[in-house]
Amino acid sequence: MSEQGFSPPTSEWYHPSEEVVKNANVPDYEAVYNEAVSDPEIFWAKRAETLDWYQKWDKVLDDSNKPFYKWFTGGKTNIVLNALDRHIKTWRKNKIAFIWEGENGDKVSMSYWRLWQEVNKFSNVLRSMGVKKGDRVTIYMGRVPEIVIAMLACAKIGAPHSVVYGGFSEQALADRIEDAQSRVLITCDGAWLRGKIVKLKDTVDEAVHRSPVVDTVIVVKRTGHEINMEQGRDYWYHDLMSLPIASVRSETEVMDAEDPLFILYTSGTTGKPKGVLHTHGGYQVYTSTTLSWAFDIKDDDRWWCAADPGWITGHSYIVYAPLILGATSIIYEGAPTYPYPDRWWRIVENYGVTILYTAPTAIRGLMRFGDAWPNRHDLSSLRLLGSVGEPINPEAWRWYHKVIGNEECPIIDTWWQTETGGFMITPLPSVGLKPGSATRPFPGIEVDIVDEKGDPVAAGEDGDLVIKGPWPSMIRTVYGDDERFLRQYWEKYKDKGYYLAGDTARRDEDGYLWVIGRNDDVLKVSGYRLGTAEVESGLVSHGTIAESAVIGIPDDLKGNVIYAYCIPVAGVEGSDALVDELKDHIRHEVGPIAVPAKIEFVDKLPKTRSGKIMRRVLKAQAMGQPLGDLSTLED
Ligand code: PRX
Repeated sequence: MSEQGFSPPTSEWYHPSEEVVKNANVPDYEAVYNEAVSDPEIFWAKRAETLDWYQKWDKVLDDSNKPFYKWFTGGKTNIVLNALDRHIKTWRKNKIAFIWEGENGDKVSMSYWRLWQEVNKFSNVLRSMGVKKGDRVTIYMGRVPEIVIAMLACAKIGAPHSVVYGGFSEQALADRIEDAQSRVLITCDGAWLRGKIVKLKDTVDEAVHRSPVVDTVIVVKRTGHEINMEQGRDYWYHDLMSLPIASVRSETEVMDAEDPLFILYTSGTTGKPKGVLHTHGGYQVYTSTTLSWAFDIKDDDRWWCAADPGWITGHSYIVYAPLILGATSIIYEGAPTYPYPDRWWRIVENYGVTILYTAPTAIRGLMRFGDAWPNRHDLSSLRLLGSVGEPINPEAWRWYHKVIGNEECPIIDTWWQTETGGFMITPLPSVGLKPGSATRPFPGIEVDIVDEKGDPVAAGEDGDLVIKGPWPSMIRTVYGDDERFLRQYWEKYKDKGYYLAGDTARRDEDGYLWVIGRNDDVLKVSGYRLGTAEVESGLVSHGTIAESAVIGIPDDLKGNVIYAYCIPVAGVEGSDALVDELKDHIRHEVGPIAVPAKIEFVDKLPKTRSGKIMRRVLKAQAMGQPLGDLSTLED
């Protein structure tokens, strides 16, 4: 897992069976890939034609103002037209859209018809609250059916949603509300996690206190514990849904293909989170194509993307793409190990899950409990497995393949980002696999690995992973900050017009791609993306710390853990008690995932003469490795 001395098993092959290849939605990757590169616009137009549009596009790709690319311009659509409206006119209205299981055993199974009605009702509620096309709505909920309804209801009326992951805390939520300027916030009283209540509404109260732009809070009752409801601001979801205004009839707003669908905040190199903006038209085409081809979705599948709807994986592959394809999904609320480490395997068995998509950190976490837990269950319904979020270490890959997949399920290791909207590098089921490699780019996507000048590096050498041309679900901008969009993704290889992913990667002799990890100040902790700056400013906000530097140290379970080096303000002494206080502060301000594994007090931090913290020096030191080139070190 460590990027140090990374030597991937480039000659370890796993080939799909003839059966898998023959039945795949795309049996011949090479042919489709070549077709797509030969004329990407025709290729994407054909994909767009599989969906419904109120009005067809005039132009597939408008590249007149690079890198502000536009897709399907002149086209009129709404992602809800494809995710719901079109299905209820067919037999699919009776199909199960999703089966939801609460951590406490509660169950909901919802047909397309019923989901369509609930979304219609809630869209009318939102309208009655004054939410209009273009207004941003913040969603801060647990993994409950209503989060799917809320997202779709926003999309339906053309109000971009900004979902904030329920694991974030006060300040992180307040910052995101502030940046999006949302008047309306949808939340839950609480969420169940590991048998305990996560008090979401308490966090909301504090965040709204800090970002008073919110004037209306809609609360879904999940845990039923006592909460504060502020008169004139807070309303129960179930009360609103039983009002006459919540009619089951609702017009879907006709949107331009390029109208915003959502903002999703993600970590970057500065403290302020970036609002990644996605739009209705291109996103629906790209996410549905990638899901259909990489995970080979068929009508009788039971698809389980075990991510949280609050991350891009959940947006694209729990909510939008599966619904567009008319698939049946499983959604599970809680922890994989609650009450026992076989909870997931029980779910696979009970619901006959055919495709499971999760993250390496979860696989490693479950692998730790041994083979007996999965072996106790009938997992024979599974036919494909997936991985996302960070490089999967070959050991976890082999375990997943053997113990969970019975050596019969190809592992679809998908490399992508919040910014890309959908899978960029991924095998299709018909492609030969090597454990730890996301294999080849998706049809229509051209990637390269380049040196500092933007020239391709030789096979086996590390370089910057870049994407060479536009794709339909690409980030349109950083919400409210075009400048940052340009600087972050396009400046480095401006002459070539490449998109900079921020990852280091390598290509092997067979042309297979190996993503090694981030090369900027972004950390991956348990697959979650965090900026060093977010944790650092969280530490400084405690008041006892003058300056801090945060690094990621490789960890067998979490991928990385956080080490923080802190300079106390004058008059404050570092102590164990202060370490505990700081950890608690981070848990509250940023969220549990951002809590450092280790906090060390120091007098000085290694800096360049221009004042930039040299995190790699700290990292090398922490790992007992050579410090490397210190010529730019100030002191
Ligand atoms: O470093 C790469 C890593 O996750 C980053 C994107 O994080 P985020 O925007 O949170 O999206 C995660 C879910 C799509 C990438 O820059 N990453 C994601 N998938 C993989 C990966 N690294 C290696 N292999 C993957 N399959």
